[in-house]
Amino acid sequence: MNQEHPTFLDETAGTAPNTSNRLIVQVYLGPRSYEIDIVTDGLASLSGRLESCKERLSAPGGQVSRKALIVTDGNVAKLYAHVVRHSLEDDGWDCQVHEVEPGEQSKCQASVSAIYDQLVEFRADRHTVIAAVGGGVVGDLAGFAAATYARGIPFIQIPTTLLAQVDSSVGGKVGINHPSGKNLIGAFHQPTGVFIDTATLDSLPGRDYVSGLGEVIKYGASLDDQFFEYLEANVEGMRERASDVLRHVVAHSCRLKADIVEADEEERTGKRAILNYGHTFAHAFETLCGYGTLLHGEAVSIGMVYAARLAERCGLIDSSVTQRQTGLLEAVGLPVKLPKESNISTTDILDRMKLDKKTVAGQLRFVLPTKLGHAEVFCDIPEEDVVAVLDELAE
Ligand SMILES: NC(=O)c1ccc[n+]([C@@H]2O[C@H](COP(=O)([O-])OP(=O)(O)OC[C@H]3O[C@@H](n4cnc5c(N)ncnc54)[C@H](O)[C@@H]3O)[C@@H](O)[C@H]2O)c1
Ligand SMILES: [Zn+2]
Repeated sequence: MNQEHPTFLDETAGTAPNTSNRLIVQVYLGPRSYEIDIVTDGLASLSGRLESCKERLSAPGGQVSRKALIVTDGNVAKLYAHVVRHSLEDDGWDCQVHEVEPGEQSKCQASVSAIYDQLVEFRADRHTVIAAVGGGVVGDLAGFAAATYARGIPFIQIPTTLLAQVDSSVGGKVGINHPSGKNLIGAFHQPTGVFIDTATLDSLPGRDYVSGLGEVIKYGASLDDQFFEYLEANVEGMRERASDVLRHVVAHSCRLKADIVEADEEERTGKRAILNYGHTFAHAFETLCGYGTLLHGEAVSIGMVYAARLAERCGLIDSSVTQRQTGLLEAVGLPVKLPKESNISTTDILDRMKLDKKTVAGQLRFVLPTKLGHAEVFCDIPEEDVVAVLDELAE
């Protein structure tokens, strides 16, 4: 792969504007199959793009539902939710908007209840559509309401953060937090369609944007060496949020995630666990540093550095792999070390990792690279090697 932007995905012959710049990623899940439709500057023509999921939005008798509850947050409402609303209303849809406070605290039971209340008042039926316009918080919350209202109603994702465009809007995991645990209450509920407009990323604060690149680099480092090379060759484009680079980066990340989701939709065979590369460390760092100190993608970035060093110590890769990965993370502006002031000890990190909800019977599980672009799950890494890497990188 090189500087060009290979059209590894179909370009459709749709009627919406910007079709020449449109990339479609198909997610094959039998009756739950859907498309991820990626454009730049196409939010105003959303209703036309819904054509692709017409069948799944149809009520018995073939009539397409034209009732939508748009769920969004206070930041995104002003920027994009009203564009979505106008696009749908101009096409004859009956729409209401439900706005939540921006931030993780909105992924709670009270927020879900408020959505149910509005759905009831709106006289929503089983064919009413929920449209999630926002980041991962809005997508997870609105998706969970859609999974549970009337035993499941259709929902479409219109993700507006990089993290949501390359990760959370794809794969059907929806849910909310419980006071005692993140994402503790949830369901698998695949969206009916995912509509991505990369131009929405222009307004994303720099730190949130770069944090999303952590997940992008994760896909390259753990699943696809050619994609990793493409990212290395396009650091400038990523930093500048160049639209052609972004469309390719988002589409390819979605393709890689979709491949895994197709192979292990409900995380039963362990294949989906590869997506957690860097995350065993990252979850511990996020909790120990305190909420808000490290953004998720920043913690994943540091976590990948630790995972690569651990793989190196165990003889799985040589140091050049770790160096290339660290080089790319740094080049896009991601942190590769814990913040100095965090002051967390090896024991704290180890204890925290043992409490991770993905830990089986107290046994540490790591996703480690065995070469650039390939990672595997390991359950038998000696604790002394983990401790040695934690000590070494704390210096
Ligand atoms: N379901 C999954 O598979 C999955 C995967 C990864 C993460 N998640 C979840 O995703 C959530 C994090 O998502 P996030 O990082 O998108 O955070 P977020 O939804 O909180 O969005 C981050 C901030 O950006 C603002 N924002 C969103 N789009 C914007 C735009 N285009 N311009 C300006 N501001 C904008 C939001 O209002 C918010 O303040 C977490 O709750 C996490 O658990 C879910
Ligand atoms: Zn993640």
